[in-house]
Amino acid sequence: MTGATTTPDRAEPSFRLPLPRPFFDRDTPFDPPAALREQAAKGPVAEVTNGEGTKVWLVSGHAEARAVLSDTRFSSDLRRLVSRMDGLTDEQRDDLMSEESSAGSFISMDPPDHTRYRKLLTGQFTVRRMRMLEPRIAEIVDERIDAMLAGGTSADLVAEFALPVPSLVICELLGVPYEQRAEFQECAAKLLALDVPISEVLTLRDRLQDFMRGLVLQKRRAPGDDLISGLITNSDLNDNELVNIANLLLIAGHETTANMLGLGTFALLEHPEELAALRANPELADRAVEELLRHLSIIHAGPSRVATEDIEVGGVLIPEGSTVMISVPAANRDPGHWADPAALDVARERGPHLAFGHGVHQCLGQQLARIEMTIGLTKLLARLPGLRLAVPAEDVPLRTDMAIYGVHALPVAWDAP
Ligand code: HEM
Repeated sequence: MTGATTTPDRAEPSFRLPLPRPFFDRDTPFDPPAALREQAAKGPVAEVTNGEGTKVWLVSGHAEARAVLSDTRFSSDLRRLVSRMDGLTDEQRDDLMSEESSAGSFISMDPPDHTRYRKLLTGQFTVRRMRMLEPRIAEIVDERIDAMLAGGTSADLVAEFALPVPSLVICELLGVPYEQRAEFQECAAKLLALDVPISEVLTLRDRLQDFMRGLVLQKRRAPGDDLISGLITNSDLNDNELVNIANLLLIAGHETTANMLGLGTFALLEHPEELAALRANPELADRAVEELLRHLSIIHAGPSRVATEDIEVGGVLIPEGSTVMISVPAANRDPGHWADPAALDVARERGPHLAFGHGVHQCLGQQLARIEMTIGLTKLLARLPGLRLAVPAEDVPLRTDMAIYGVHALPVAWDAP
């Protein structure tokens, strides 16, 4: 593996910083950055220069974002994105595009390759399959709250609840031992930093692959009743494919939902009227979850695509070969689409938000995420009376440095029973 031995001898380009820094710096915790709001106000499709000096097309309008996400002429193929990246060594480029690195990683593929893998997994993530997991998810949530209550009347909600709940759920689903979480959580946390240099991406990817390869080999010898074992038994996927699919699910399955639980709780605590409405009407939970997903739009660096031909979007011609970034936070606040988009309204009628993307790559785990959020938030509010921030709101550390937005920690307190 080249990644583990590559030593940068110059300033390396970052892997995940698609736009200049101000597009990620927040003036308020819950609203899109001012630079992004200003750009979006100028027009729904615009060319901007990213942090590395490369031109990127930024799509910020709701209709335009849907149009790009549903048009596979805007390619998700990692090889196209990598070939457009400046500053990589030939060795790094070859490594990122190698079969071992990309096999099975269908989030970075186009149809028909994407379709083949997606079909293998769709059945595992249906609404019905996820509903069957509900009782176990409720148990996991209760166990975490029991542990918080046993520890006193204050805690860091991220470390004690928001991160463990989805990590435990995805570990059980995949058959990954939760005791080994330190390894994959640390890799994921570093890998998702906005300014992570390419050489580190390769090293972390190797570590994650080694971790998962060991598990896949074990399960080949002695399959269990988990999802990875199911794929081994019921498909002809090779080890590289299995390793990368399992890692995609493991990372996508815990980092995203963890940040929605942490930031979502913070947002509710900072909007007391909305919190009171939800407490008074727990049946609003489904709507509240959709509204939090829309309002907070934690995927704030991507999805990205490459135009495979000249394509007009919203009256603007995006030339073949352009890198395109769809801004979910901007599209989900588009005043042309939403009434009073800046308001957090837990009773808002469910609308077609783009928090889970759209089109062929629309989030595979969205039903699971919804269930985890609904059960997680409902039980938190019901079982921790007087839940409140334990520090001033301005002291809550925001994840403006990460590809998935949220909070690094959320110190909270509650009333003694
Ligand atoms: C609140 C939580 C979540 C959010 C906001 C979220 C968001 C997204 C978005 C925006 C995409 C589209 C990416 C693109 O178009 O390139 C996506 C894809 C994906 N998500 Fe999620 N996700 C969440 C939870 C999960 C969970 C729990 C899983 C786990 C099983 C998961 C697995 C995936 C996978 C495998 C894809 C790729 C689908 C494909 O390419 O066909 N996500 N997610």
